[in-house]
Amino acid sequence: MSIYEQIGGRAAVTAAVDDFYRRLMSDPALTPYFDGVDMSRLKRHQRAFIAAAIGGPEPYLGRPMREAHALLDIQPDHFDRVVGHLAETLSDLGVDQVAVDAIGDTLAPLKDEIAPGVAPRAG
Ligand code: HEM
Repeated sequence: MSIYEQIGGRAAVTAAVDDFYRRLMSDPALTPYFDGVDMSRLKRHQRAFIAAAIGGPEPYLGRPMREAHALLDIQPDHFDRVVGHLAETLSDLGVDQVAVDAIGDTLAPLKDEIAPGVAPRAG
C-alpha cells in the first residue's frame, strides 16, 4: 500500500495540507519566505510538497524546483525545518515511522536544488 493510500487518499491529503500549512505559518523562522505570496499559490505549494513526498496520483506540471525557489535564498536548515514539519504532520495523521523516514529520504535529494546555501553559479 502506498503512503498516499495509507493516510487515506485525497481527503487525508487535504487535511494534511491544512495541518502542514498551519505548522509552517506558525514557525517564525519560515514565515518571512512566504511574505507577500498569495494564498492560492501557497496552497498549491503545500499540495505539491505533499504530493512530491508521498507520490500522490496528480502529475506536477509546474516549474522545476530549482527555478521555483531560486530567488528565495532558502537556507539549508530552513529546508530541514520544513521537512521536519511535514514529518510531524504525517506522524499525527497516523503514518508509521518507517514511512515517515522513507518520505524524508524521498525529499532529501531536493535539498541541493531548493536550498543550495550559496548563490547558483552564472552560466
Ligand atoms: C521538498 C521541498 C519543496 C517542494 C516539493 C516545494 C514545492 C514548490 C513548488 C511546486 C513551488 C511553485 C509553486 C507555484 O509556482 O505555483 C514552490 C514555490 C515556493 N516555495 Fe517551495 N517547495 C519545497 C521547499 C520549500 C522550502 C523549504 C521553502 C521555504 C523555506 C519553500 C518556499 C517556497 C516559496 C516562498 C515559493 C514561491 C511561491 C510563489 O511565489 O508562488 N519551498 N515550491
